Amino acid sequence: MKAYELHAAKNGLSLTFNDKRAQPEPGHGEVLIRVHAVSLNFRDLLIADGSYGRGTKANVIPVSDGAGEISAVGPGVTSLRVGDRVVGAFFPDWTAGDITEAAVSSSLGGSVDGMLSQYVVLPERAALKFADHLSYEEAATLPCAALTAWQALVDIGRVNAGQTVLLQGTGGVSIFALQFAQAMGATVIQTSSSNDKLERVRQMGARHTINYRDTPEWSQEVRRLTDGRGVDLVVEVGGAGTLEQSLQAVRVGGTVATIGLVSGVGDINPLPLISRAIRLNGVYVGSHAMFAAMNKAISAHQIKPIMDRAFSFEQAADAYAWLRSGSHFGKVVITIKN
Ligand SMILES: NC(=O)c1ccc[n+]([C@@H]2O[C@H](COP(=O)([O-])OP(=O)(O)OC[C@H]3O[C@@H](n4cnc5c(N)ncnc54)[C@H](OP(=O)(O)O)[C@@H]3O)[C@@H](O)[C@H]2O)c1
Repeated sequence: MKAYELHAAKNGLSLTFNDKRAQPEPGHGEVLIRVHAVSLNFRDLLIADGSYGRGTKANVIPVSDGAGEISAVGPGVTSLRVGDRVVGAFFPDWTAGDITEAAVSSSLGGSVDGMLSQYVVLPERAALKFADHLSYEEAATLPCAALTAWQALVDIGRVNAGQTVLLQGTGGVSIFALQFAQAMGATVIQTSSSNDKLERVRQMGARHTINYRDTPEWSQEVRRLTDGRGVDLVVEVGGAGTLEQSLQAVRVGGTVATIGLVSGVGDINPLPLISRAIRLNGVYVGSHAMFAAMNKAISAHQIKPIMDRAFSFEQAADAYAWLRSGSHFGKVVITIKN
């Protein structure tokens, strides 16, 4: 079968096409998935650069997020059949409950083989059904970005109708967060470096927008927009370049869901956390149970993921380069025609 692999290179890892990789067979309790589409995340760039915090397997098949159909089932599989449409779970072993080291010690496209391949074998528990109204390309955007946004808003932020959330940028996580926040009846304030992208999020329902390049002290504008109070939740994807502003933008007793580091890593000053009793809560994608809850909401609200561009399997390297350019809005997808 055809698959991509990440091989050690001078600067990080190099994306290598292998058209003679042995097709895996499903063993006991496993399913074989014929992959139709994958989507890229910022994490895939970190892994390719060799700077992902967790371990990466040698010559790993990259990319955590993919959707396809079950093409064979191994002995003992009871919940899935040939033809079922599924995505791979980002963490194959985090089924439900609190996060544990064991639950997050293996992740697709990092410590175990991922989805940028014509065929993938996964344990039955890690092949998750998705909403009927979604195409394979749309479903392929869900396992990492959508689930992370969901956990931040629902499990950690406990957002209610009428609350206000601050979203940063217009990448995969933040656009899903906008869609979910809208569905929950929350008011969204969203930042971006691009006025065109801000116009697009306004059309999608963001109430207020701020260009973070033109307004580097954007927390002051957030306070003005919230009558001095601050927002209930910040979905923090920026890291070192945004955290200080996020701590100024959140209300007393509010929550900063700490997800990303698109602007790098740095030190945290604990003073605002203490003096304003802010809850700073790390987020790591989510469990299969959270995915199931998200799926129900996606079905109920007929949410359609926002796809930026779809590349062919042969253009995978171009898809990586496009994501790295930061030009995208929402999700970058790769389709795989078998
Ligand atoms: N912890 C987890 O479980 C988890 C899960 C998923 C993602 N993440 C992390 O979350 C971050 C976002 O991931 P993603 O896949 O959504 O990335 P992405 O699609 O590549 O989007 C990145 C976006 O970040 C925005 N951005 C860049 N610098 C910014 C800044 N200084 N302030 C505000 N926004 C800025 C840009 O938006 P504009 O073009 O609009 O300016 C850019 O499009 C990454 O660091 C990723 O590693 C973590």
